[in-house]
Amino acid sequence: MKRDIKALISEMTLEEKAGLCSGKDTWRLKAVERLGIPSVMVSDGPHGLRKQGGASDHLGLNDSIKAICFPAACAAAASFDEELLEKLGDMLGRECRAEDVAVLLGPAMNIKRSPLCGRNFEYFSEDPYLTGKLAGAQIRGIQKHDVGACAKHFAANNQEYRRMTCSSEVDEKTLREIYLRAFEIVVREAKPWSVMSSYNKINGTYAGESHDLLTKTLRGEWGFDGFVVSDWGAVNDRVLSAEAGLDLEMPYYDGSGDRKLAEAVLSGRLDEKVLDKAVERILKIVFRFYDSACEKENFDREKHHAAAVQAAKKCAVLMKNNGVLPLGRGEEIAYIGPFAKVPRYQGGGSSHINAYRVKGALDMAQGNNLIYADGFGANGEALSKIEVDKAVQKAKNARAAVIFAGLPDSYESEGYDRRHMKLPSSQNELIEKIAAVQPNTVVVLHIGSPVEMPWADDVAAILNMYLGGEGVGEAADALLYGDAEPVGRLPESFPERLEDTPCYLDFPGDGERSVYSEGTYVGYRYYDARNMKVLFPFGHGLSYTEFEFSDMKISASNPFCVTLTVTNTGARMGTETVQIYVSAPDEKCKRLVGFKKICLDVGESKMVRIDLDDRAYEQFSGKLGRWYCRGGAFTVHAGRSSRDIRLTEKIVLKANGVIPLAVDQNTTIAELFEHPATRPTVEKMLAGFRAAVSGGSAERRSEQEAVMLREMALNAPLRALPTFKLITTQQVNALIGQMNVLLDEYNKKGE
Ligand code: GLC
Repeated sequence: MKRDIKALISEMTLEEKAGLCSGKDTWRLKAVERLGIPSVMVSDGPHGLRKQGGASDHLGLNDSIKAICFPAACAAAASFDEELLEKLGDMLGRECRAEDVAVLLGPAMNIKRSPLCGRNFEYFSEDPYLTGKLAGAQIRGIQKHDVGACAKHFAANNQEYRRMTCSSEVDEKTLREIYLRAFEIVVREAKPWSVMSSYNKINGTYAGESHDLLTKTLRGEWGFDGFVVSDWGAVNDRVLSAEAGLDLEMPYYDGSGDRKLAEAVLSGRLDEKVLDKAVERILKIVFRFYDSACEKENFDREKHHAAAVQAAKKCAVLMKNNGVLPLGRGEEIAYIGPFAKVPRYQGGGSSHINAYRVKGALDMAQGNNLIYADGFGANGEALSKIEVDKAVQKAKNARAAVIFAGLPDSYESEGYDRRHMKLPSSQNELIEKIAAVQPNTVVVLHIGSPVEMPWADDVAAILNMYLGGEGVGEAADALLYGDAEPVGRLPESFPERLEDTPCYLDFPGDGERSVYSEGTYVGYRYYDARNMKVLFPFGHGLSYTEFEFSDMKISASNPFCVTLTVTNTGARMGTETVQIYVSAPDEKCKRLVGFKKICLDVGESKMVRIDLDDRAYEQFSGKLGRWYCRGGAFTVHAGRSSRDIRLTEKIVLKANGVIPLAVDQNTTIAELFEHPATRPTVEKMLAGFRAAVSGGSAERRSEQEAVMLREMALNAPLRALPTFKLITTQQVNALIGQMNVLLDEYNKKGE
């Protein structure tokens, strides 16, 4: 049914239009019955439906309906599997359609700038490309059911400390290449029905009041055509936010936002067209959901639960294994730790789901011969010496000991950041004690973000289940005994210690400003640029078999594609995740530009093809106001992780943009040298200078002096040349004019 939304808007009163730009309550939008405009509902969250019927809140405090709790994004990202994310999205969309929810408030896709951010469990990665591709896949899955997704929190919302008022101070290149990049990928490739503007300011302006962000970039550049919804309680100035492009204020509380909009229109401060446009965007989504032909089918909870278990298996990362895994069923194995009984499978806050069914690995009898001891408390508390000794004894006497450790709920959550990266000392101490008496000690981790592991060298294996959703216990069992193979890869670096992290000195800032002084050097970009050791690198993950890469080729045509052959050289079927990185000639680090999973039988070889997009070779220039390739010799790396690079190839590319130049007395010789239009003139001039400074015979100067003079000349602004007695001020002025003529001609040719 095609609705004439503009006609509908023309019949609405000013109050009705203003009213539609905020909610009816915490989760519902207003209806306009007389015009047949229905009220629709939105709900959290990124890894499960948190639909509240009764008392409602945006912090996960009040009850919500039973729903399947899928792997949180920290785990889902470790799958490096777009197909899986689309499948998860498909199930979430089905559940929303069945529960009459029009927009699901997810994926949450902020970059993990620091391991300390309390909501890292809810986010995908430290890498924007991986985040964008996986979040985009989830959005496509959700929206298959004519249910909207909501890409959040736009943007640079990378800490919880003072999240509602703090300003993320980020330079433009870093903002574009790191903090907006994932949103750009999903808007261009997955077309989310909505985007949620974040609480924080960006360089002093609230995200919800930034016209640059919400209109110029999001809509003007990327083509976003849905509605922008505020984070709950994020609106500071309702009229400013409307002018910036924020369409819907949530939640409804006292109607003051609506009144301010109406008054601003009546006073002439706000153009009514701006209000009409916001209403149009909202109604387009309301009716896209409401008029959909998609069936309100009842989904099969058992099927979705089984899918959640399968997903958790694909999200786990085998970080270390000396061969102790997989275990043999029937062997006497000691399971230690309360997470074996009740696994930690999700985080706290607005994403918290009333899970359908959770089982612990200990519940998975099926031929297991298990003995159990707590060893430590579920909230990190230490137990009595007797209890600890009992756990150590049971671990010592078994064939192997599996310690289910991890971060207790209170250690990481929406609303506050972590202050350190440590597991509870009760866990660290117990792991050390058991590893000292049991060579086959396995640690299973339930964590939403990286932790320090002082015992990493002392244990035989580390299996990171992350917060794998309600199926995580069943998945851990299958992986420990080899019924499933570990295929996950780390979507974030695990540093050895907090002090090594890129933003250690700046995070979380003074509460007013959080200065992103590390720039684009986030995560592995930083550790690679500094050639630092890490505990486990981005992209790392072991399998129960081995792989070899060979025969890498890069197509000559742009966009480029990489092909290579992967061989399973081990004794079990296995799935590899090929990662492609690119390093530019002038960059200190490489960046992820492609990835693909490939399943191989024993001895099997397959060719993998990974298509790269233009951005693989580009960087953002504030002066150019766009992405561009600087040209030169690039290196393409194919690896098992960011640190396990197996093959590299060089490729020479032409520049597809030149940084614009306007010459004045402060322009340096170096800038003139770098620009193709002015370089020939400057080369001649430099030759003349060389002759002048060396008194006609260059050999009189030592090598060092020649280098020094050249560098001083290159870095000199034109106005300084007369002081070196190289040319006169009149000549400098003439040169400035001549250079700008050359640049104008060059720019005219380029247009
Ligand atoms: C919360 C979160 C956001 C959530 C919203 C509604 O404060 O920041 O992710 O979707 O409010 O619960």
